[in-house]
Amino acid sequence: MPGKLHGRSLISSKDLTTDEYAEVLHTAVILKRQRRSRTPNLELTGKTLAMIFQKPSLRTRVSFEVGMTQLGGHAIYLGPSDIKLGARETTEDIAIVLSRYADIIMARVFGHDIVADLARHAGVPVINGLSDREHPCQILADLQTVQEKKGRLAGLHMVYVGDGNNVAHSLMYGCARVGMSLTVVTPEGFEPDAEILADSVEIGRSQNATIASSRDLSASVKNCDVIYTDVWASMGQEAEADQRRQLFAPYQVNESVLARADAECVVLHCLPAHYEEEITYEVTRSRNSAIFDQAENRLHAQKALMVLLAG
Ligand code: CP
Ligand code: NVA
Repeated sequence: MPGKLHGRSLISSKDLTTDEYAEVLHTAVILKRQRRSRTPNLELTGKTLAMIFQKPSLRTRVSFEVGMTQLGGHAIYLGPSDIKLGARETTEDIAIVLSRYADIIMARVFGHDIVADLARHAGVPVINGLSDREHPCQILADLQTVQEKKGRLAGLHMVYVGDGNNVAHSLMYGCARVGMSLTVVTPEGFEPDAEILADSVEIGRSQNATIASSRDLSASVKNCDVIYTDVWASMGQEAEADQRRQLFAPYQVNESVLARADAECVVLHCLPAHYEEEITYEVTRSRNSAIFDQAENRLHAQKALMVLLAG
């Protein structure tokens, strides 16, 4: 019998309920175990994933494509020059046509409206593989990693340091849903979206989690369980990179920041990293770092998502 997630899309990290996060993460654990023991799982045999990319990618592209192969299906890469999203034909027509061929669509786009529009017009599940506003697949892998390292999610305190960007926004919703408190520490003027903050504060309250924005890195990281950072200039913001480097310099995750956190604090970074900018190489290679488990978990978490949406 198809589950509650069957046929749905994942556009925002808000889209999943607390129970649905648990279901995706539980499925991801099973799929990871099967992969480790080389137990085949061909639940998506004969299915096709269409992957639209307006921006570059290593992890998202490879983990989705490999994931589909491992599940017995097939993935098609549609790069920026292939379908020319927004230039050659309408998003609506692309969604309708792709739905006649593919069983799932994944899209990495600039404007969040584009992926929302794809989902509105597609007859198959659409997965947001990163937009300027959110990165929900990343957060599934992040939560899986924290769960592995800490044995739980609810009741922990994560501190995200850096730009109030797409990753921060999805973390706010994801942490709120699973009952993990989150402080987003940014320089002035780079705070997360006010609407997402208000919304996630509200969701968090119902799960006994505090979602907050702050400028005080030192006070925020004191005894925290997880420290997370991301690049200071995201894809599409390259022209601002030099200016941001100055403004964000006091917000680097380094040994002295890590020393204020709990001794067993887990360090996360979605990657790609700009070493010695948002994080030191030393911290990423410390015993606290889980950044490569986190990257691996993109594979398992997304396989779980695809099985639940389209299996
Ligand atoms: N973290 C992440 O989404 O990586 P890519 O940009 O390489 O896909
Ligand atoms: N915030 C980053 C995440 C990369 C995975 C970006 O959008 O470029």
